[in-house]
Amino acid sequence: MDDKKFYVSYNSVHKLVKKLSFELLESGYDPDVIVAIGSGGFIPARIMKTFINRPIFAVGISYYGIDKKHKDHPTKIQWIDEVQSQLVGKKVLLIDEVDDTRATLAYCVGELLKFNPEEIAVLVLHNKLKEKDVEFPSEIKRYFVGMELADLWIKYPWDAEEIEDHTQKEALMLQSFAKEGKELY
Ligand code: G4P
Ligand code: MG
Repeated sequence: MDDKKFYVSYNSVHKLVKKLSFELLESGYDPDVIVAIGSGGFIPARIMKTFINRPIFAVGISYYGIDKKHKDHPTKIQWIDEVQSQLVGKKVLLIDEVDDTRATLAYCVGELLKFNPEEIAVLVLHNKLKEKDVEFPSEIKRYFVGMELADLWIKYPWDAEEIEDHTQKEALMLQSFAKEGKELY
């Protein structure tokens, strides 16, 4: 098994989102809408809808080019356009899969703030504990994280070409964590 990679199965994604939905409820934040940052935020956002049943708006933002190198800055592939007026005065839950450099998330928050939402809360499955390239603007008061981890490359199930093999790799990884006394889910 590759020690530098952290495998995440669909079941684990589901469990993380369910846990996050309870944290959201306990915090008292009751979002009007979900904004999903594509493509990694799409599946987590859809699972969140199962627990909080709010409409999902999708935005497409890319920071990696097709050669897997960072571009100079995040760019919009797709934006909300005609529905952006629906964000005025609304409580937004912005969902993505990972907070890595934070560049995409912070850029997206900045763009959404232009539509004067009442509040934006950020929710991610994973936050990598590392120095971030940018910070969130001060308007971000609530930040929900499913799991914090070191600066490893996370292997998400939707990137897998062989899903049984991927799931098996996660199981082996979780077994070795359990031997060290760490129960991750
Ligand atoms: P951030 O704001 O969320 O920190 O993200 P950042 O701009 O640093 O980079 C975001 C891009 O990097 C996203 O891809 C995201 O999926 C990808 N990424 C960062 N770390 C990991 C990781 O550990 N595993 C995987 N699988 N991806 C990671 P993107 O090309 O912008 O969009 P998309 O892949 O969501 O379509
Ligand atoms: Mg993403």
